[in-house]
Order: sequence, then C-alpha cells, then structure tokens
Amino acid sequence: MATAIAVFAASSNRGCATAAFARPPVARRDNSRLGIERFCTIPSPAPNRRVLARASRPLTSAHRWHTIGASSQRATSSAKEPEVKIAIAGGTGTVGRHVTDLVRQRGHESVVLARSAGHDLTTATGLADALSGVDVVIDVLNTPTLGAAASTRFFDATTAALLDARVVAGVRHHVALSIVNATRVAAGYYAGKVAQESRVRAGTVPWTILRATQFHEFAAQTLGRGSLKVAALVPVMRTQPVAAREVAERLVELAVGSPRGQAADLGGPREEQLIDIVRAYAQATRTRRPLVQIRLPGRMGAAMRAGALLPAAGTERGRQTFAQWLASEVPGGSAG
Ligand SMILES: NC(=O)c1ccc[n+]([C@@H]2O[C@H](COP(=O)([O-])OP(=O)(O)OC[C@H]3O[C@@H](n4cnc5c(N)ncnc54)[C@H](OP(=O)(O)O)[C@@H]3O)[C@@H](O)[C@H]2O)c1
Repeated sequence: MATAIAVFAASSNRGCATAAFARPPVARRDNSRLGIERFCTIPSPAPNRRVLARASRPLTSAHRWHTIGASSQRATSSAKEPEVKIAIAGGTGTVGRHVTDLVRQRGHESVVLARSAGHDLTTATGLADALSGVDVVIDVLNTPTLGAAASTRFFDATTAALLDARVVAGVRHHVALSIVNATRVAAGYYAGKVAQESRVRAGTVPWTILRATQFHEFAAQTLGRGSLKVAALVPVMRTQPVAAREVAERLVELAVGSPRGQAADLGGPREEQLIDIVRAYAQATRTRRPLVQIRLPGRMGAAMRAGALLPAAGTERGRQTFAQWLASEVPGGSAG
C-alpha cells in the first residue's frame, strides 16, 4: 500500500479503522483521502534493537516533571488522535530523544534516523526504504561545528537528503527545528541554519519551521564541547534557555497538525548569562575544571554577546526555568 498515510505498530490488533485528520488535502499526491482516511495494519520492519535500547533509556526526574504537567493530559486526551508514522531525524540527540519518547507516548509509530541507527543523512542513500510509509519527518539533526562553511555543508546536505524527491513520496509534512534569530545572525554555525531553513521553504513537502532558543541542556553541551584538558571555554552569551523537553512537546504537537509554515518562536522563561548556567551545571555535577570566558570572534560572537539570539517580547515561552530544570535533572546536585 504505497500511499498508506498511517501505519499501525505491528503489535496493534486494531486492524483497519477510520479516522479524521485536522488538515487540508495536499495536491501534490493522491491525498484526496487525507481528510478522512481508512487506516489498515501494515507490518512494520523489525525494530532496530540498538535504537530502541537508546531511545528507551529511563527518563530522569526532569523528564517526569514535565510528564506530570500539561503533556500528560495531552497524552491522555490524545487517545483519539489518528496514528501517524513519524520519522525523527536526529531522534537520539538532546531534543531528539524527547521527541522520540513523546511520539511513542502519544501512540504514534516512530522511525529513528541517526548514524547510530545506521543512517548517515548527509546523503539520501537508503532513505527511500527508511521513509517508506512515513507521513511526517521531524528534523532535529545537529552538528557540533561552529564554522559557517562546515555548518552550511551539513545542514544543506542533510536537509536536501530528507527532502529528496526520490525518498519523500509519501511524506506530507516536514517539521524542522531552527533557532530564534538564526537568520538574522546568519554567521558561523547559524549560517547552516539559514541554509536549512531555505531548503525547507523551497522544498515540495508542506512544512513547519519552529525556532527555539538555546536549551537548558546547552549548558552541558557547552561544558562538553568547550572543554580543554585544563579548562572549559565558555563564550560570552546572553541567552534565554528553554527545556529541550518543552521544545520536543511543541514539535510533536506541530508535527501531528497541519503544516504551518513559520510557527511562533519558542523561548525560555528568563534571560541568563551562559557563563552562569554553565557554572551552575558544573557545580551541580561536581565538574571541577576551571571555566574561562571567551569572546568568540566575528559576527557570530558579537551577536551572542549583544543578545541578538534572545526571543522577541510576546513570543511563546516555556514554563521551566533553568534552576528548576537543573534541580530535577541533577537531584542532590548543589548549584550553590
Ligand atoms: N542545542 C540547543 O541549545 C538548540 C537550541 C535550539 C535549536 N537547536 C536545534 O535543534 C537541533 C538538534 O540539536 P541537539 O542539540 O538536540 O543536537 P544533538 O544533541 O547534537 O543531536 C544531534 C543528532 O543528530 C544525529 N546526527 C548527527 N550527524 C548525523 C548524520 N550525519 N546523519 C544522521 N544523524 C546525524 C545524532 O545522532 P548520531 O550521532 O547517532 O548520528 C543525534 O541524534 C539542531 O538543528 C539545532 O540547531 C538546538
């Protein structure tokens, strides 16, 4: 059933069912049936044990904190949500593993695409099989580079692969995660996000782009990436971080809805200095390495220092502050 728009998990015994999508038909394919669709059970490929093992790692109390809140209600009330098959490119990453978890919690079928799952997305090789029967792609891939050329190469190649006409025959919605004001900065790492957004906008698959601010987890990423033997280098940066879990909640919400184009920006509840949150994270995790603040050169560094990556007033805000996230992420860890 090449045009299948929904695939039940192989373990499902519900067989065929009729369900409604809250979205308009898309002319590009035979999607006239997408408003009201009859779903049939289709055998799923055997799950990749390694990916399942990684993605089913127990969630920390930080994750439970959120699950108890609004999202658990959504999970309950989404019992009637039509099942869709969602591919998560980067589904093992910082935000990706939350996306994968939430997709499964909401009863949808997930396909994790990452090198550790056997897919290098810098080319489209092998993607047609992986995307077979997939309705929605959520792109949360990332590269650790800070350089404009390497970042542009990565995001350009991976987005092109995910939107390659030969592999997206059945995909009706492409959801990409970008960064608040990345297109305004358009330098260093952020040049790659500009390339990614441009490809998504120019593609043939109906799309949604969500821009979020840095994650609370960015403190740990900075500590890891900026670490030398004797010290950790922390760029001077004004940031308004948001929990990756809350970004994942928003992404999944968007993914199961109609393509929106540019979604409202999502920022964190309060502004922080990057050095402060990295220091708090280092103290809570008993990381003894001295922290050295550096001024990154060029337009990217200047933008980070000036607060160019802060969200505009009036855009959407996450609920969890960095301090709350840290307290639940590192129980017993003292930031003081
Ligand atoms: N971190 C932040 O603070 C932040 C804030 C706002 C927006 N964002 C955006 O959110 C997205 C995800 O960021 P993140 O911090 O969650 O990333 P991350 O933790 O570095 O995870 C990156 C993911 O991409 C996969 N990946 C990397 N190279 C790949 C390749 N060649 N082929 C296939 N998979 C590949 C990784 O898995 P493998 O290593 O197994 O391949 C991993 O699953 C990025 O687009 C970023 O711009 C990040």
